[in-house]
Amino acid sequence: MRVGILTGGGDCPGLNAVIRAVVRRTVDKYGGEVLGFRYGWAGILEGNYQPLGINEVSGILPRGGTILGTSRTNVTREERGVERVRENIDKLKLDGLVAVGGEDTLGVGAKLHAEGLPIVGVPKTIDNDINGTDFTFGFDTAVHIATEAIDRLHTTAESHNRVVVVEVMGRHTGWIAVKAGIAGGADLILIPEVPFTVEQVCDVIRKRHGRGKNFSIVVVAEGAEYPVEKEQDGGELVLAEQETDAFGHVRLGGIGNKLADAIEAGTGYETRVTVLGYTQRGGTPTAFDRVLGTRFGVMAADLVHAEQFGKMVSLQGDRIVPVEMSHATECLKRVDSELYEVARTFFG
Ligand code: F6P
Repeated sequence: MRVGILTGGGDCPGLNAVIRAVVRRTVDKYGGEVLGFRYGWAGILEGNYQPLGINEVSGILPRGGTILGTSRTNVTREERGVERVRENIDKLKLDGLVAVGGEDTLGVGAKLHAEGLPIVGVPKTIDNDINGTDFTFGFDTAVHIATEAIDRLHTTAESHNRVVVVEVMGRHTGWIAVKAGIAGGADLILIPEVPFTVEQVCDVIRKRHGRGKNFSIVVVAEGAEYPVEKEQDGGELVLAEQETDAFGHVRLGGIGNKLADAIEAGTGYETRVTVLGYTQRGGTPTAFDRVLGTRFGVMAADLVHAEQFGKMVSLQGDRIVPVEMSHATECLKRVDSELYEVARTFFG
């Protein structure tokens, strides 16, 4: 059995655990070999790969990032993209290709499978917004990092009687904000799923300060919509850059600063901002993400062996289960209102 593997989209902790598991399972159980494609879909388009044996993946389990590199290359936007992937799969005699990525990588994988190519998907993203799996690996690590940051910001906010706005990642959904916010005891959590007004934000902070607390922690997801008008519902994304990537995504960033200015102007309390940014994606994965990535990788190799193409591995409760890869991009997995209600209990 000859298996290809690539990692696409933003990196996240746990990718190397998947790569290692695919290699170990393929070599040890099936007597096969693995080719690792460099920089996501670009690697298979250009035939840029490296053989991955047991020695090549030794010691990578705790390492952050991806030993294969990654990119946001979109096969469907490349000239003769699908054909070039098909030619390289044939030329390299691959029995299957494991695509490890988020909505974009898996979306391409599902399209390639619809064109008859032997693709198996593994869902990853720190955002945890992929439909069809309870969790993606990388998310748990990001929540841990954000929680630790909130803990640290608490002590400095309290010492200085300040409001601190913490901007966390979460392009379309507020999973990191809500989980880290609950774990870190945030006084307000703002997410893309729940519209807000500046007045509501200021009210929550005034209420808290009114009962004798002289500091507040506000967690905001980068993809939350900033209110356009005070009295109006809805808002707009705050962008770091207008330009879009190959999948049409703008680069988000800046809502924390806008919000901090508005809070200081609206309440009179000194307000500061911390943007956690890429620290949430870098570094060593938690034990949970190492185990999840490992379990995903083992099943991905099994699916290639069983010729179960067009499938994606997923976590359902505590079981690893194959689901249709197309399911991953049918919709976004948004923060459920019940969880947000739990968070809301501690606002103000
Ligand atoms: O999708 C994961 C993610 O980290 C988002 O939270 C964030 O908006 C985006 O990737 C940033 O991507 P880039 O690496 O292109 O800046």
